[in-house]
Amino acid sequence: MRFTIAGLLLCPLLWVDDSANGQENSVAGPRYEQRADHDPNGIGKFYMGREIAHVMGYLGAPWLERDTREKEERLTLLVKSLKLKPGDIVADIGAGSGVISVLMAEQVLPDGYVIGVDVQDEMLLLLQDNARKKGVTNIVPIKGSQKAPSLAPRSVDLAIMVDVYHEFEFPYEMMQEISRAMKPGGRVVLVEYRMEDPTVPIKLVHKMSQKQAKTEVEQPEFNMKWAETIDVLPRQHILVFTKQAEPKSTQ
Ligand SMILES: C[S@@+](CC[C@H](N)C(=O)[O-])C[C@H]1O[C@@H](n2cnc3c(N)ncnc32)[C@H](O)[C@@H]1O
Repeated sequence: MRFTIAGLLLCPLLWVDDSANGQENSVAGPRYEQRADHDPNGIGKFYMGREIAHVMGYLGAPWLERDTREKEERLTLLVKSLKLKPGDIVADIGAGSGVISVLMAEQVLPDGYVIGVDVQDEMLLLLQDNARKKGVTNIVPIKGSQKAPSLAPRSVDLAIMVDVYHEFEFPYEMMQEISRAMKPGGRVVLVEYRMEDPTVPIKLVHKMSQKQAKTEVEQPEFNMKWAETIDVLPRQHILVFTKQAEPKSTQ
């Protein structure tokens, strides 16, 4: 438990308790909650009522690269729907072995590039290997942490997370950092399996409803607004948020 200076000055109740899970909490209460009774496919840690899924290990890469994925998830249609432009700076956060990074990279040529961010070195090696095999030279691999994607402030036109957001161990901190990395007007895209559709054959903690995603991303401090949901994929929704211009400082 610790006290913020603002908390001490403004109100004795504004302390920040970071003893639970070793994480910082909001003044309204713990940001994350650990529950013993939970889905075995989740980590038992809850954020805004949602259980966080296990991170897919690098041994899952063949599943990401399976031949049937295009038919099941229509990745080429996903990338087409993003309407990327030459020169765009794209961050593929949780890029895995780079299946989607590679597809996006050619759309932003000649002078745009894709930053492939992942927390696993093995995934980043696979990503580089895949890019090399396909002759793609405009992907920059970056090792992120569980709390931050290591992107420069106001540098990104489009940040995309494909089947990733639901497994962020620290979704609040990640969105804080992603928000900082966006250019004003930049787009943040979540591609998540539709929770609303019981026929989508994916475990429950790997699905997200639109309502839940909007609640989590549209928190005022992130300064992001839902713009549209592109519903062209068989299993996932494509949720697009835009980074609003920062309010002008009055000082
Ligand atoms: C299910 S895979 C999806 C990979 C890729 N987006 C795709 O669809 O082919 C999820 C990836 O997200 C990565 N990941 C999980 N948490 C992350 C974080 N906080 N920052 C960056 N990557 C993360 C995992 O290491 C894993 O490679």
